[in-house]
Amino acid sequence: MDSIERRKSVRKYRDNFIEAEKISEIIRILEEAETGPGGNYIKFEFIAENLSGEVKNVVTYGFLSGRYGAIAGWVSDEPYAIIDYGYILEKIALNLVDLDIGTCWLGGSFSKRNIIEAMEKDRSLNKSIPAILAVGYEGEGRRIRDFLISGTKRKRKDFDETFFTGNFEKIKENYKREILEGVRWAPSAMNKQPVRVIWDEHRVHFYLVDTSLKMRYLDMGIAMSHFELKAAANGIKGEWKIDEQATLTNWTYMYTYDISNIE
Ligand SMILES: Cc1cc2nc3c(=O)[nH]c(=O)nc-3n(C[C@H](O)[C@H](O)[C@H](O)COP(=O)(O)O)c2cc1C
Repeated sequence: MDSIERRKSVRKYRDNFIEAEKISEIIRILEEAETGPGGNYIKFEFIAENLSGEVKNVVTYGFLSGRYGAIAGWVSDEPYAIIDYGYILEKIALNLVDLDIGTCWLGGSFSKRNIIEAMEKDRSLNKSIPAILAVGYEGEGRRIRDFLISGTKRKRKDFDETFFTGNFEKIKENYKREILEGVRWAPSAMNKQPVRVIWDEHRVHFYLVDTSLKMRYLDMGIAMSHFELKAAANGIKGEWKIDEQATLTNWTYMYTYDISNIE
């Protein structure tokens, strides 16, 4: 199983916090993080102190249990920058899966004021923290909240309801389905899965069905990072572009992955 298949939201953490050695590895991952497709560099920070002992100070609604830290950064408050935030931080989350560290995206359900106090100040240039990533060792058993949010089984929309060919037909090729299966299991706020994909020959167009919340742009960036990683694992390379000729739909067009090594 790869990190995309292993990843799931962890809301119950162990009481032993991540050791100093692993924290250094996490910090190294944060330092190595690249810019997003929109070219935004985001400085992500690991916040350990305030969260480990005083969880309630940070999580307003007490969704999580056990000891955990968080990763967060400041980003400009505009769609393509927020997409980059989702894209970069999800790649970080998937790297953490390989270190056996559990994560959970938290958007809006944490006390922003406390997070902000724990972080270096960078309130200049209209920046905000659109979400944070909780990080810690997964505890045994699941929280009741996990059942409330995802039921007894983790759920996703049907493949053919969200991914289409250029003619709005079902995608048949196995390798395309395998890659998009990685997008299907991407996390999204409230598990809304707002991303739609049209795979038109060498161009893979990404859309949002709903842009009423800023968090949807995070979902978009997250889905794009899953796509890129699964595509690379299947030998497919390309670049993210804004394509003026992208298929028009009722959805909001966001990005195209332009594949360079496919007929
Ligand atoms: C941008 C974003 C914000 C989220 N915010 C919360 C949150 O506030 N509280 C929470 O418990 N889960 C939150 N989640 C986790 C989703 O509920 C979860 O990803 C979704 O239900 C799918 O489950 P899975 O991650 O286990 O595959 C968030 C996820 C994303 C991507």
